[in-house]
Amino acid sequence: MFSINSECILSKKSEDIPPFYVMEVLESAQALEAEGRHIIHLEVGEPDFPTAPHICEAACAAISRGATKYTHSQGLLSLREAIVESYHQKFGVDLSPDQVIITSGTSPALLMVFMALLEKMDEVIMSNPYYACYPNFVKYLGGTPVFVYTSEKNGFALEPETVRQCLSPNTKAILINSPSNPSGHVMSPESLKGLAEIADEKGIPIISDEIYQGLIYDGDDHTILEYTRNAFVLNGFSKLYAMTGWRLGYIICPPECVRAIQKIHQNFFICANSFVQEAAIAALKGPQEYIAEMVQTYNTRRQYMLKRLIEMGFEVRKEPMGAFYVLADARKYCSDSLALSRRILNEAGVAVTPGIDFGNGAEGYLRFSYANSIENIKEGMDRLEAFLQKELEG
Ligand SMILES: Cc1ncc(COP(=O)(O)O)c(C=O)c1O
Repeated sequence: MFSINSECILSKKSEDIPPFYVMEVLESAQALEAEGRHIIHLEVGEPDFPTAPHICEAACAAISRGATKYTHSQGLLSLREAIVESYHQKFGVDLSPDQVIITSGTSPALLMVFMALLEKMDEVIMSNPYYACYPNFVKYLGGTPVFVYTSEKNGFALEPETVRQCLSPNTKAILINSPSNPSGHVMSPESLKGLAEIADEKGIPIISDEIYQGLIYDGDDHTILEYTRNAFVLNGFSKLYAMTGWRLGYIICPPECVRAIQKIHQNFFICANSFVQEAAIAALKGPQEYIAEMVQTYNTRRQYMLKRLIEMGFEVRKEPMGAFYVLADARKYCSDSLALSRRILNEAGVAVTPGIDFGNGAEGYLRFSYANSIENIKEGMDRLEAFLQKELEG
């Protein structure tokens, strides 16, 4: 039988790309579940809330009336108008629907922005810890991630002065993510303003991943667009609207750059799912009160989880203010976060994400997601506590 020699046919970059460990932890947890084990999921950043009924109904209605064809490559005009309206309402910024490109999730949006910007050797400045996929996108496209190591003492904040020190003639973009995954840090208006000043002074765009916008428990919500127009904003419906599986995101980009990204989109993706776009219009234009309730529920879970983690000996030097994660220092127990997370999964039946997924700046840390019910979080914390007690006794 013919068998493929993968070493000969796969590109070096496809061999070199690291796995997305959180997905590997999830898949290992699912394998244990298939064997009959009961696992508490605190690894994945996926809201446990169902997508709201009015959003689901809008998708079904769209399918029923035959909205099952390709849309404009930039996405439905009515959805782009709704996005522009929501940025205006929340932040007072005036945008044009022509600046918006609807994508099948924020992940393809990130890919296309990097594809549009990067030449070989171009540098992208980003914090470390970072969202796991960022450097992988940049490296895959021949660019170089330049890391700014942030300190836990100030919540892993990315400060403009440190970014300034990393600028080089090769700097192509500055990547920010607020509220942040994995730290939950929310950037202050001063930091955003400072970074915007660098962008405008040097003509270097900011890529701002705002996917956790609205998930804030302390401080205010902002967009980089309040401070500069030299920015590519990425956002999506996965987190705030509990729509991870629907795969819908968008890019707001400077008008001069739309055409380049539109061409990439046409070639590689054609357009985002038509009826999912219709559902997203319902998400933006429909009732919003239930979102405030979800945020309140996340906040209760955040406080509970923080309390339990600190009581059992994890260090959290600054409280996370947004998203739905706690990045806790576990170095007291183990410096190899991947090994520790595997043991916690296998021995305690709790899935958590190893800090190393988010860069060497988070090695020795574990990321806990509180996008799960308070009952499950409680059970997860109890199991973890029992595991650590055994560990300390042993
Ligand atoms: C910071 C950040 N950006 C982007 C994404 C990808 O989101 P999407 O589901 O829209 O592809 C995630 C998902 O966890 C994320 O945490």
